[in-house]
Amino acid sequence: MTRPSQARLDLSALHHNVAVARELAPGTRLMAVVKANAYGHGAVTMARELEPRVDALAVACTEEALALRDAGIRCPILLLQGVFEASELPVAAAAGFWITIDNDLQLQWLEQASLSAPVGCWLKIDTGMHRLGALPAQTASFYQRLLACGKMAGTPVLSTHFASADELHNPQTWQQIELFEAATAGLEGLRSAANSPATLAWPRAHYDWIRPGYMLWGNSPFGETQPEAERLRPVMTLVSAVISVRDIAAGECVGYGGSWQAQRPSRVATVTIGYGDGYPRTAANGTPVLVNGRRATLAGRVSMDMITVDVTDLPPVAIGDPVVLWGEGLPVDEVARHAGTIGYELLTRMPPRTPRVIAP
Ligand SMILES: Cc1ncc(COP(=O)(O)O)c(C=O)c1O
Repeated sequence: MTRPSQARLDLSALHHNVAVARELAPGTRLMAVVKANAYGHGAVTMARELEPRVDALAVACTEEALALRDAGIRCPILLLQGVFEASELPVAAAAGFWITIDNDLQLQWLEQASLSAPVGCWLKIDTGMHRLGALPAQTASFYQRLLACGKMAGTPVLSTHFASADELHNPQTWQQIELFEAATAGLEGLRSAANSPATLAWPRAHYDWIRPGYMLWGNSPFGETQPEAERLRPVMTLVSAVISVRDIAAGECVGYGGSWQAQRPSRVATVTIGYGDGYPRTAANGTPVLVNGRRATLAGRVSMDMITVDVTDLPPVAIGDPVVLWGEGLPVDEVARHAGTIGYELLTRMPPRTPRVIAP
């Protein structure tokens, strides 16, 4: 007996999404972003699948990168936030990680470090996100210090990160592109700026390395329709099953706090999945749920292990019938909108309790 709640992972969809990224940015190198447990999909499983298909991986921190090395991943891995203290540098250099240099202190640590091998460096420039990175005016001096420090392998990759590339008509992305190109003009080295939305919709920003994360998992980063994003296929489909069906009279309420009240004689299906399995408690009444492949709507508050769904308008529903919470046939971002968040968060917050199962 197994509980039917699972995150099914479609590896052929992952391969397809990588191929879409490659096709959109021919001739660029591809760095797959697998931080935060590969956005909830399982970092080791995804990294093993990605390693033969991409040029490098990226994670947030040394711990995430070491976990991949321990699992036998040998390709270059970039630490997107660099190191948090000087003592990480020898570890990163020995493990062959690439580090991001964001600020003067990280640069000083590198200048003073004693390393067993030179380390690959990505120099990050703050072109408008105002979160991390050297100021455009500091770029040349940081660059020269990296060349002079004698600890770096090759030349620095010059990188930046977009704040609003998911908004197709937001002029900020053009401003960031122009600032990035001006700040790095005349400096030798590869360039990198494109996250998923820029990979999909801002070809000018592809440069030498693209760095997609979210699109590889098959989801659109845009709040509107975008033709290239339409081609993606979801890797994760969160599934469960009906474990109870009941008819209730008009006026009866369902679930904790009775937040949903039947406006007519109604049929309610209980599904064995809840916020303890990663389904958001903030999902509102009316959130779409697929029961037997048909759209029904959430009725009542999400519990830890169960949800209740209004299936009154569906053909008869029975115990054991399959349910899809998001993924194939129901984009995670559509569910996220009903829960006041984005698909990135729903995927990343998937708890260990929910088994990740490779789809046959
Ligand atoms: C520096 C950097 N590059 C690339 C990415 C990937 O972004 P996305 O998942 O939107 O493709 C991230 C993710 O936050 C990031 O921080």
